[in-house]
Formats: sequence, C-alpha cells, structure tokens
Amino acid sequence: MRYAGADPLDIGALRTARAGKRIGGDIHYFESLASTSTTAREYARNGCPEGTVIIAETQTHGRGRLGRTWESPPFRNLYTSIVLRPTIEPAQAPQIALVAGLATAEAAIAAGAPAKIKWPNDVLIEGRKTAGLLAEMDSDGDTLHAVILGIGVNLNLAHDELPEELRSKATSLAEARKQPVERHTFADLLLSALEERYDQFLGDGFAAVREAWDGLSSLRGQRVEVDANGVKHAGKAVGLDADGALLLTEKGETTRVVAGDVTIIDGYKAS
Ligand code: BTN
Repeated sequence: MRYAGADPLDIGALRTARAGKRIGGDIHYFESLASTSTTAREYARNGCPEGTVIIAETQTHGRGRLGRTWESPPFRNLYTSIVLRPTIEPAQAPQIALVAGLATAEAAIAAGAPAKIKWPNDVLIEGRKTAGLLAEMDSDGDTLHAVILGIGVNLNLAHDELPEELRSKATSLAEARKQPVERHTFADLLLSALEERYDQFLGDGFAAVREAWDGLSSLRGQRVEVDANGVKHAGKAVGLDADGALLLTEKGETTRVVAGDVTIIDGYKAS
C-alpha cells in the first residue's frame, strides 16, 4: 500500500500556521540537502534567531545517532532541524533531545498513533521506530552557542518502501493509522508541542517534563540491556533521574546510565 505520491509538503500552509511563533516563525524549505542539521548549523553560525527551522524533502547524507545514516526518501516523511539557543551548560544539551522526544511522541499521539518514547531519543509505535532525534551542539568550551535539534519522522512511508533489514524494526504514522498524514499539519503539531515543552524546560528545568516523559516511556518496568560505548549494563528500567539519566535496578542496586543504546531483553510488550 502506498500512502503518498510525490507531492511536496504544503510549505505555504505551514508558514501561515507558524507565523509569529517562536519555533517555526522562520522556516527555510529545500527540495534536497545533504543534511538539514548541517544547513541549520550554518544558519546558526550566521546568527539566525532561535526557533529557525530547516526542512528538506530529501537528504543525501542524513545523519543518525552513533554515526549511523538516516534514510531520507523524498516526499514521504519529515526531515527537519531546529536552531535553539538555550542558556544552559553544554552538559545539559542532551536534555533538549529528551524534551524534543517527548514533544515528538505527543505530536504523533495527537495525529492518532499510539506513540511511546524509547530512551534516549527514539519514538516508537508498537515497538517499531517511527522517529529519531539528534541534538548536536555548537559550543566553545563552556559557552553553548546553539543546539541543532534534528528530527526525522516516518510519516507516509509504506512498509515495502523500507529497506528489507528495517522492516521488522521501523514503521510510519500512516502505517499505524492506516491512512496518510498531511505532512504540513503534522509539522505544525510537532513544532507546537516542541514550543510548549521547550518553554517548560527553560522555565523550570528538566524536572518540569520528567513525569510526562516517564508516562510515555516504552521502557518502564521492562528488563533492558544498555550498551554504553562498549560497557554493558542490564537491569529493570525504573525511570529517569533528575538530569535525564536512565535508572536501572538490578539485585537491589541502582545504576545510572547517561548515554547508550537500549535493547529490551524479552522484546517489546505493549503496556
Ligand atoms: C537517530 O535516531 O539515529 C537520529 C535520527 C535523526 C534524523 C534527523 S532527519 C533531520 C535531521 N538531519 C539529519 O541529518 N539528521 C536529523
């Protein structure tokens, strides 16, 4: 089943919806880029305002976490990078990705898909990945100039358009809803949710969003294994620490994990 032809996103409608807004009041739209995050970084270095959004219909060198590639077929999905300029320490920058992961899951739920978050930055529908986030810093020592927040969301990708090796692990909103997604409407939902959660974070810190994040976590209560740069941790995921670290318990001991790749030991179970 195909959900979309080769229609461009309705950028005019999106610009109208975001006019005057802090995030997405200024949107730069491209048919093709190497990576929206590379272009967003250039805009940031040239002094663009906070909330500037870059969108591309396709990326020739889309980047994922841990040096991975982000598949970016044209006219199906959303590939966007947002320039943020929070007054935080560089060490807090990963919290921005957690905040944005929550906003992305909330936008997917608002669009009618039962989305959950997988720590740190994946959004899943029924255990399969539908969105990924990548927060990159532009900093000098302790001075953070900008966070470039890259978000890729599979919207109208049909199952048979996924590379074969990803078919059991990835999905799209259209597949979950069994109907296509209006891409500019989803982009507006996403930028609105991000603006709201980002404001809460700026006002009251990560603590302000932690409960909502935990409420959508796909890992809560599951036994997981985390590969933290080659160091393996296993245990039951019990939630997030105040700074966003993942907390695992094993034989009465609690371990904090600040970065890594998580596998659910017994596979995904709906909760
Ligand atoms: C991941 O799950 O590994 C993160 C994927 C992030 C992909 C998005 S698509 C828009 C932006 N531009 C990029 O090159 N990467 C991010």
